[in-house]
Amino acid sequence: MKKDTKVIRAGNDKTRNAGIVNTPVFHASTIVFDSVKAMNDADERGFRRGEKVMYYGRRGTPTHWTLQDAITELAGGADTVLAPSGLGACVLAIMGSVKSGDHILVTDSVYGPTRGFCNGFLKNFGVETTFFDPLLGSNISKVMQPNTTLVFCESPGTHTFEVQDLPAIADAAHEGGAKVAADNTWASPWFCNPIALGADISIEAATKYIVGHSDANMGTVTCTTETLPGVQHAYGALGLAIGVDDVYLATRGLRTLPARLKQHQDSAIKVAGWLKEQPNVKRVLYPPLIDDPGHAIWARDFSGGSGLFSVVFDKSSSLAAAALIDGMELFTIGYSWGGFESLIVPSMPSGARSATKWTEPEPGIRLHIGLEDPEDLIADLDRGLARFRRALG
Ligand SMILES: Cc1ncc(COP(=O)(O)O)c(C=O)c1O
Repeated sequence: MKKDTKVIRAGNDKTRNAGIVNTPVFHASTIVFDSVKAMNDADERGFRRGEKVMYYGRRGTPTHWTLQDAITELAGGADTVLAPSGLGACVLAIMGSVKSGDHILVTDSVYGPTRGFCNGFLKNFGVETTFFDPLLGSNISKVMQPNTTLVFCESPGTHTFEVQDLPAIADAAHEGGAKVAADNTWASPWFCNPIALGADISIEAATKYIVGHSDANMGTVTCTTETLPGVQHAYGALGLAIGVDDVYLATRGLRTLPARLKQHQDSAIKVAGWLKEQPNVKRVLYPPLIDDPGHAIWARDFSGGSGLFSVVFDKSSSLAAAALIDGMELFTIGYSWGGFESLIVPSMPSGARSATKWTEPEPGIRLHIGLEDPEDLIADLDRGLARFRRALG
């Protein structure tokens, strides 16, 4: 089955749907049983054998199972654990893979709040983090310690867009006895499959392209057979319960993911290509561009590029960046991305690095290219760059 066909049906189990195309929203906490034996059997099958059976709302309903199974079909792996947000998925993947006394390696380009979790909460529980140069590749072996149990990648990082050599990192990590988790949100399971590239855990902030409409937070953690029990245990121990309405939105979004991503990609390539040629633009950080430093690895490991990239100017100032951003008509100012609309934020990654230095002029801008006509987006940016130049003087 071709990928475009697969995503339409993935996870859909007719026995759960009563003939309805989308698995309905099952609101549930209590599930009732005909006997104590039936209740105990459900517990045994669900908790001990990992079967998807109704036992208690927090442990999942058919609404959850459809999304879990769909993501697993696309991402590979044994099963997918849901999290209430993308950050929650990163936290769950880490918590499910470490114990007190362990050491983890995290890419220096990691999403800021994941860095914050490692430096704060995780440290308090006796797990040390070392951040590593995202371009280290197989040299990751040089920064591994005897107690390194997890290498956390994010490729490309979503402000600086370095592409990581995941197969090389995974080989070296496995050699040293560590597992590899990858935050795959930029590419989504549509454009990259970290588990096929050697990772043990693939993470999605489904909030972005999977939900796709900027109206729900959701995270997914897809695990191999070996890493699944730890992540499932963390999910249960932390008392997580994933709201079914948001799960429904994520599954509904997933069905149109390929169509939307194709449009995001086509428009992003047009807008990025135009931006690259403009005065004052030093670099456009977008791996699908042929002259991007990460292009070769991107072309090897990814089947496409999403709508998120950054722009670095040859010189910049807060005033000039604000003049550009504040006057935009189609690009609205706000965090997150992956919805149908275009977004813009200032980008200042240097303060969020510890293993490497980010020396490009700041602020740059980060753009999410939505589903509007790219010609309109280019016109909006053209006016924005004129304001930028005027403010720079
Ligand atoms: C790469 C990446 N991972 C995780 C997250 C967190 O997702 P959420 O906002 O749903 O917690 C984000 C959010 O911007 C992100 O960019």
